Amino acid sequence: MAVRPVLRMGDPRLLQVAEPVGHFGPDALGELIQDMRDTMAELSGAGLAAPQIGVGLRLVIFGVGHNPRYPDAEQVPFTVLANPEITPVGEEVEEGWEGCLSVPGMRGLVPRWRTVRYRGVDPQGVPIDRTVSGFHARVVQHECDHLDGILYPMRIEDLRMFGFQDVLFPGEPDADE
Ligand code: NI
Repeated sequence: MAVRPVLRMGDPRLLQVAEPVGHFGPDALGELIQDMRDTMAELSGAGLAAPQIGVGLRLVIFGVGHNPRYPDAEQVPFTVLANPEITPVGEEVEEGWEGCLSVPGMRGLVPRWRTVRYRGVDPQGVPIDRTVSGFHARVVQHECDHLDGILYPMRIEDLRMFGFQDVLFPGEPDADE
């Protein structure tokens, strides 16, 4: 168990395309996934991609539990997803505010597909196939972008909608992706 340093925007490793996970099973990914979980929990993140801790593999984790500060916020089941593929369902795009552990303290308004189907495998190689909307879909798209070297500020269409979290949303606690 270890909290690993999260790379910050400007580090060229965040801009690389990650390699597919090739080995599954009980021991292959266990330590990496535990480190990712520990790091995400320590930083109160909604998700984390392996490249953010300097591991160039197509592996993401995400999940948002019940938060008493946001009783109405959408929950997302905790998921470990390797080799994901995302396809939009329909053509609806919606904008929402995002943050990122690699862009600490900032928020930006990012357009995402409202509904997506995502497929991949869990750490044992068992297939995952879900169709999701809203915040769940946003988190998945954000995390999987990291696997292709894309950070959310690269998707902001109006850079006036990008700024410091404590200025944009005074009084709200941090929750990065
Ligand atoms: Ni991120």
